[in-house]
Order: sequence, then C-alpha cells, then structure tokens
Amino acid sequence: MKHFILCALTAVSVLIPAIQVSGQDYIVSSGNLSLAVSAPEGGRLEFLYFGPAAGPEDIDMLRESGALYGKSAYPEFGVDNVTGVKALAVKHRDGNLTTDLVVEDVLQDSKPEYDLLKVRLKDRYYDFHVSVFYKGWKNSDVIETWTEFENLEKKPVTLIRFDSGCLYMRRGDVWVSHFSGNWADEARLTEEPLNPGMLVIKNMDGSRNAHFSHAEIMFSLDGKPQENHGRTIGAALCWSGNYELRVSTHDNVNHLFTAGISPDMSQYTIDSGKRFTTPPLALSYSDEGLGGVSRNFHRWARNGMIHNGWGTRDILLNSWEGVYFNVTEPGMKQMMEDIASMGGELFVMDDGWFGEKYPRNNDRTSLGDWKADPAKLPDGLESLTDAASENGIKFGIWVEPESVSRISELFEKHPDWALQVKNRDLIFGRGGTQLLLDLCNPEVRDYAFNVIDTLLVRYPGIAYIKWDANVSLWNYGSTWLPDDRQSHIYIDYHRGLESLIKRIREAHPDVVIQSCGGGGGRANYGVMPGYDEFWVSDNTDALQRIFIQWGTSYFYPSNAMAQHVSADRNHQTGRVLPLKFRFDVAMTGRLGMEIQPSDMSAADRKFAAEAISGYKEIRSLVQTGNLYRLVSPYEGKGVCSLSYIDDSRDNAVLFAYKLEHFRNQTVPMFRMCGLDPEKVYRFRELTVPDGESPSSLDGKAISGRILMETGIAIPLETEYASRVYVLTAE
Ligand code: GLA
Repeated sequence: MKHFILCALTAVSVLIPAIQVSGQDYIVSSGNLSLAVSAPEGGRLEFLYFGPAAGPEDIDMLRESGALYGKSAYPEFGVDNVTGVKALAVKHRDGNLTTDLVVEDVLQDSKPEYDLLKVRLKDRYYDFHVSVFYKGWKNSDVIETWTEFENLEKKPVTLIRFDSGCLYMRRGDVWVSHFSGNWADEARLTEEPLNPGMLVIKNMDGSRNAHFSHAEIMFSLDGKPQENHGRTIGAALCWSGNYELRVSTHDNVNHLFTAGISPDMSQYTIDSGKRFTTPPLALSYSDEGLGGVSRNFHRWARNGMIHNGWGTRDILLNSWEGVYFNVTEPGMKQMMEDIASMGGELFVMDDGWFGEKYPRNNDRTSLGDWKADPAKLPDGLESLTDAASENGIKFGIWVEPESVSRISELFEKHPDWALQVKNRDLIFGRGGTQLLLDLCNPEVRDYAFNVIDTLLVRYPGIAYIKWDANVSLWNYGSTWLPDDRQSHIYIDYHRGLESLIKRIREAHPDVVIQSCGGGGGRANYGVMPGYDEFWVSDNTDALQRIFIQWGTSYFYPSNAMAQHVSADRNHQTGRVLPLKFRFDVAMTGRLGMEIQPSDMSAADRKFAAEAISGYKEIRSLVQTGNLYRLVSPYEGKGVCSLSYIDDSRDNAVLFAYKLEHFRNQTVPMFRMCGLDPEKVYRFRELTVPDGESPSSLDGKAISGRILMETGIAIPLETEYASRVYVLTAE
C-alpha cells in the first residue's frame, strides 16, 4: 500500500525523500528553518520541533536535551483530553463524535521549489482519513501546514472543528503581537504576555476578515517583543473568510497554538467518497525579532503569495476622495491631465461611474449594473481610456462584483442571487440597500467573472481594477445550497471567491488588481495570490496611517500596501498635516494620491511633482527592498522611523517622523539595522520643500557601524516634521 502511494505521488515529480531522521522522525526544512514530526506507522503523529534549521543529529540531541515536544501534531477530539483543546472534531456516520487517528503512511515529495511531507492518518475503526501536510519552501523561510479529510465511510460525515494546523511553544516569557481595529483603524498592534487560559483571535464578518483583527500573529519567545532581535515565530492563516486563532495555555509546560477556519455556524458535511482541504497556515521563525519574521513573510509573499510579487507598482491618482460620486467626463479627464502633469502613471476612476436606469449618485443604488452612466460619461469608457493614453498614463476602474443594491437592474432580474434567509427579512448593509451575492452558486460566479472579463475585453485600455467589497455576510441563507447544507455558506462563499479570482487571473494575468474591503478588510493571504496590492485603510490621515501601516507591515510587503496622499484637512479625522509629511508617510508603500488636484495650490502641485520624482528614485528599494522597522510609533516616543535596504546593503532609504511635539522633548538617537558595518554611507535628503534647506545630515558620510551602534540624531524640530534620506555606500 505504502509503495503504491509513493509511486502515485512520484509519477509526476522526482522523489527525493525529505530528511528522515530515523524510522519514524521526519524533518521538513525551508531555507533556514525546520519542522520535525514523529510518524510511526500504526502510532500517533507527534509534533517534535519547529525552529532554526535542524538536521537528524540535531533532532537526536534535542531529544537528549528534553527540548522535543512529543505532543499530538493534530489533536483530535475523542482521545487524549488533557487540555481539551482540539484541532479536529468529527461526527461519523453513526453519530459517534470521537475520532482516534493513527499513522497510515508517510509520503515525501520534492520539487525544485519545495519539500512536501504528507502524513496520512486513519481512524482506528472508521474509514475516515486525515492527511496532515507540511510544505517547506526552499526560497523562503516559511513552512506551510494544512490538512485534508477524506471520507470513505458509507455515509456523509460532518466536520465540527477542522483547524489547518497547530504548533507548540515552550512556556517561559512568551509574548504575542496581534492586531485589532475597526473600519478606518485597521491593524492596530497589541502586544501582551501569554498568561494561563485561552487567547482567541476571531473573525465572523463572513465577507471581509481584516477590519477588526488579522488572521496573523507573532510570538516573541524571549520576553517583550523586540524589533530586531529575539527568537520570534510568525503565523498567518491563508483564508479570506471567518477564522479562529487560539493560543491555549493550560499546562505548565507548553502553549498550544491552533488556527483554522472558524467552526462557528460552519459545520461541514463531507459526502461519502469526497474530500475537504483546509486553507494553509504559514509558519515562520527568526532570531532577528519581529523584523526578521516580517522579512521572511515578505519574501514568501513576493515569491508567490501576492500576484507579481517582485514587480513594482505605478504611482496613481484615485478619484474617490477628490470627487466621491460626482464623476463626470470632463472631471475625470481633468484629473488625468493633472496626475500626468505631476509625474503620475495611472488614474483610477473610483465609485460613481455606472448605472443607467439607476445612476450611482450615492451608495444606495446601482451595484450590479456595471455599465457606464450615459449622463455622466456620454462618450463611454473608451473616451476615458483614450484620454489616459493621450496623457501617457494608464487607466483603472472601481468595481464591486460580489455585491448588489436592492435598487438595481440586477436585483430586479435576479433577486434570488443575493444571499437571503428563508422566512426572514433581508438585512441590508451600506446605503441601507446593499446585499452580498451568493458566490456559492456557480451561476453567480459566472456573472461576477463576466463583470470583470467584459470590462477588460471590451476596453483593453483598462490596466487596473480596484475590486471592492463593502458589505458583511449578514443574510445567512443561500437559495442555491440545499437545506441540509446551509451551514456551508461561510466556507463555500470563500471557496467561490477563490475560484473566481483564479479564473480572472488565468484570463487576465497582466491586469493589476487591488483588493479592497471597504478599506483594509481584505488584507489577507487567502486572496492575495490573485491580487497585486490591497487598500490598507479608508483612513488616509497620515498620522493615523503611520500606526495602521506599521501593523500591516508585520506580514505584508510594501509593494502590496496601497498608500495615498489625501486632502488637507483630512476627510476622516479633520486633521491638517503638512503636504511633505503626507507624502513622506505614503511613500513607504505603493504611493498614490487621492485628492482633487485642482484644489491644490501651485506650490503644492510643484512639491507633489518633486516628491513623485523623488519616489521614482527609491521606488524599487521601497517596494522590493528589505524592511527594517526602527522606532515604533506604538512605543510612545513621539517619533517613528523605518528603512528599506537592498540585498547588497549598498542602498538604503530612511524615513523618520515626528508624531508629537513638546518643548525640550527627549528624542532618541535613531539606530539603524541591517546595514553593512564595514561600509560608509553617504546621506542625501529627498522631498525638501522649495525655500527650505536640507537638514544637517544631507551630504554626510557615516559608517554602517556607527549608524547601527550609536545611531544618528535626525533633526525633527517641528510638529509633524519628517525626513527621507537616501543612503548610498561609497
Ligand atoms: C470603499 C473603499 C473606498 C471607496 C468607496 C467607494 O469604502 O474602501 O476606497 O472605493 O468604497 O464607494
């Protein structure tokens, strides 16, 4: 049996066994880290180790030192009930709620890009199989784990809890860093020590999952989280729907971390002969602190978990905060001219451009009617794509393909396509009319595919799509799913979304697509393989953005983070900030503007053009370089600083901001990180406004050693002062 399966797996690839330590221990490695399990045939699958790269001898010595865990690698309900925390609970065909798994066989597969270990488990009595996968990427320091269930029982079985995977950590002084928030205040960092009990991070929005918390967490194993040192583990669940991350501290020895799709209201039936696969849980480790783990995730993301991960992104103007729903043809054309004149490369027409019978003049109507409003755009979309190319820029457009307004032609034609609950009134979202379409239904997915495909085929000048999602999954009922499968909605919706994105990507590999979830609600690795970037937040206030972007950067690379310069006074907070500060903050990611250029003074437009030109010089360093966060805004020092450094460590860009200003305030020296101590770096200041002199650091040459050991005094003399320096090794 074992031999047969090995052959089946290797028929399509070369078989190079993952390192086998002994007859029963297996190590999966990824770059600089390893994960080891014990999988004796007929015995239990046990988690042994996760940390720095370890070979067979290391595992033997770790065993001698008592450092191996030897705990169930995928604890199932029904056997060992010590902590009560389980990754799996299943109801079998006869109503039995327990499962008792033993190792059936182990399969190893090796490709140039990864090593894969598949441990197949089987219930001792029932014909129910569970495969636990570990995939070690060779070009990234990330190991993914996920699980597949195969029901060979004669009747359906029901999954009650079905985590993607789990991990043990030795108790000590372990801290967690995780994210909470809200719309317009996403990714707010919380750091806390792990105490006895259970920490649960959970999302139940149904549609977008990153507004209130993130499906990501870091563990600092050596006490309070440190940015650039200390052993640190990071975990990201790659799933765009409801999730549950749990850290259980119920014994004196270990913390148990589990992560997966939230099982709440999501019992999932697997028919006889069918399988169910969980989303991957990505794990990383670094002894370079939070920053080391961030850089590992950024590299992994660029290597395939975001679309065109190593590509740089265009500088754009988005129409939303400039005109809101007041889209007009001359207005759009004017904005295109304006952004082109400031050196921008792309114009994105946001909401408000569509609807014929029901023109989209506010958020109450028209979602679903994706045809240009003839009153607003009498010459159609083509005249806009033409105008973009006349201005030498690209054109992008906003759509929300998963939604429908009650007041729309689509809803009149297909009311059954919206998610809706039998015998209950509809619950409406944004505008009091918005509903979510039923992506469980393949016909609806075809419709949504056609929305985007038709736009892109009919108007080849569209180079960029902003794909928004502004409503939660509140109507928990599908007209398409059978009565006894209604509890599949939360999951099948996102499976439908994944397949939709994949199909669009296959048809249109080159179009740039932004994932937007009413601000930062769709920042997650479940969907990012299909998207080039995401909108970080609807809050464009540069001061609050510093905090939002800081948190978001823990797991996401800068070229995926869309960051826009907006109006003064800010529309979300009412704050007034210098244009230089607004640019210097937006420039740490994918730079854009979201403003009415015709409201800007000539001096501001000139500054914007210079800042854009400066950004072009550092774009590839910012967007694809290695992030070193230096001074956290959360530390309350009144300043913040971060930097990007290229692989050669010859080029760096340093950003510093003053967040609050007091007389005789103590401002720390800024110590850099990640430079070459032996090199000497020449400073050049960017974004210096006309009439102001560069700071005293401009033109200075300072060694990497001094920059990292002693640090530099960055002149930040006024409220909301900011500095951007390019550092070049001599
Ligand atoms: C959401 C997005 C915004 C904008 C509006 C348009 O809120 O996050 O950026 O596109 O929708 O209605």
